[in-house]
Amino acid sequence: MSETTTRVAVFGAGTMGHGIAQVCAAAGFAVQVCDPSEAAREKGLAGVRASLDRMVAKAKLSAEQRDAALGRIGWGGDVGAAVDGADVVVEAVPERVELKRELLQRVDALAPATALLGSNTSSLSITELGAALRDPSRLVGLHFFNPVPVMELLEIVRGVRTAEAAVDRALAFAAALGKTPIVVRDMPGFATSRLGVALGAEAIRMLEQGVASAEDIDRAMELGYRHPMGPLRLTDLVGLDVRLAILDHLHREVGEQFRAPPLLRQMVRAGKLGKKSGEGFYKW
Ligand code: 3HC
Repeated sequence: MSETTTRVAVFGAGTMGHGIAQVCAAAGFAVQVCDPSEAAREKGLAGVRASLDRMVAKAKLSAEQRDAALGRIGWGGDVGAAVDGADVVVEAVPERVELKRELLQRVDALAPATALLGSNTSSLSITELGAALRDPSRLVGLHFFNPVPVMELLEIVRGVRTAEAAVDRALAFAAALGKTPIVVRDMPGFATSRLGVALGAEAIRMLEQGVASAEDIDRAMELGYRHPMGPLRLTDLVGLDVRLAILDHLHREVGEQFRAPPLLRQMVRAGKLGKKSGEGFYKW
């Protein structure tokens, strides 16, 4: 893949999109980030810059490598221009099935027929997203984790109509990015989000019931179970809106155990989305 992939298009400049763009650029690929919002593109660029600066400060990267990576990323709002000549396309737009399906249909029509298409969905069905495509065999789940430059895993999701060759290309893409892949079946929430939101939702229910403070619930899992970050702080990092969307989807697809806690829904309605909005279970 590293020999044949030279151009990557990333849709969505948000938390995940700009992180994905960063790791692709750091791996030497030319990257086009596409987002209709200029403000989102500016915020995305600032996020990439801050993360690369942090790596330079930690001597994980030289200033020249940082500048070269930044120079490999182009930012724009036009779908056709973004996918022009792309070898790999990764969509990381908000977790809404219609939005992703519509975008993937446009990408399918405009991208080179040979391009691998990946969705960074946290939980939605790759089979369903692929159903409207002319060529569903080239769509895989490419599920990255936040913060993308730090987290080692790439969860590759095989839809019912995904070709084996597409999975092989996704595995090679993971290797080129320095990520460790797992390949999972297309089931709601895959191997990661299903367990991740189960813990997060239970922590929110415990907060609702006054079991302990947010800080102490988090401390319990950090010190008692050695999680790097407690489930409420992690929900802030991921985004409360993202976790609510995953829970609502799993509730419909899997069952009652995934009913979203009312507190989570209220906080999302109040715009308390976590780190990205400045407030969630914590102030950031
Ligand atoms: N860019 C570059 N480097 C970063 C970074 C970033 N955005 N964020 C952290 N780092 C680096 C730091 O510089 C530091 O480097 P060092 O080891 O050389 O000192 C290292 O990562 C650790 O960071 P910190 O010392 O600041 O803090 P922590 O040790 O607390 O680690 C963390 C921070 C990596 C975020 C850690 O708390 C963690 O792993 N948390 C859990 C994250 C997680 O579970 N993510 C998955 C969420 S689910 C998801 O994303 C799926 C989606 O579909 C919703």
